[in-house]
Amino acid sequence: MADRKPIISGNWKMHLNHFEALKLVQELSYLITEDDVDAVDISLHPPFTDIRTVQTVLEADKLPFHLGAQHCHFEEKGAFTGEVAPSMLAKLNVGYVIVGHSERREVFGESDEMINKKVLAILAAGMLPILCCGETLEEREAGEAESKIARQVTAGMASVNAEQAADMVIAYEPIWAIGTGRTASAEDAQAMCAAVRSTVAGLYGDEVAQSVRIQYGGSVKPVNAHELMTQPDIDGALVGGAALEADSFARIAQFRLSE
Ligand code: PGA
Repeated sequence: MADRKPIISGNWKMHLNHFEALKLVQELSYLITEDDVDAVDISLHPPFTDIRTVQTVLEADKLPFHLGAQHCHFEEKGAFTGEVAPSMLAKLNVGYVIVGHSERREVFGESDEMINKKVLAILAAGMLPILCCGETLEEREAGEAESKIARQVTAGMASVNAEQAADMVIAYEPIWAIGTGRTASAEDAQAMCAAVRSTVAGLYGDEVAQSVRIQYGGSVKPVNAHELMTQPDIDGALVGGAALEADSFARIAQFRLSE
């Protein structure tokens, strides 16, 4: 593996109010050590209403976690009721924004075109996108998994330049594995993350492809983290359910310590 630093991201989805968020961050700060954050980047993606609270505790206590968001709009400002602009997140020192999560695509109808606009807007605001891709069970069974993710990655990265691309994170999340307790086998997850990397190589060449970090997401737990994270093309995890509890998230972040 190139010298890619793994990144473990906690996607809290629509869970935890700002008091609960504060408690979880404090618990994590007791469990996760300097050695852990030397070895892996850790990003926390709370709901919007918690971000300011989490930012305050991270900065006041100098906690070594990156602040993340789950979503944003692509416009800078305007009459977009309920939406949040990338610059608003950047102002709160958000570093990573999840974009194109399958729940946003499927439940809220986000298209590849909207997702690409968001990727560009997040980069323009000085943050890094975590661009999600993944296939449904029907697509997998029809042998269309690789073509689907190649299409999503290619569309999501349109007009992103090579320098920006090299810093991006891409999360491969098979939809049938999200929140279901059904994890992709390490072999399948590796094969799909390798397919994501070869898509990036086709777009930008090998050097960029070797630099992009590719996460696996979908029912990652302490018990399967080590096997998944030690695959050559898997550079971290996007964690949903298991990120809501400090002990399980810390153990995933510490995957390198278990067998
Ligand atoms: P899960 O969610 O870990 O609960 O499967 C992952 C995700 O949707 O990012």
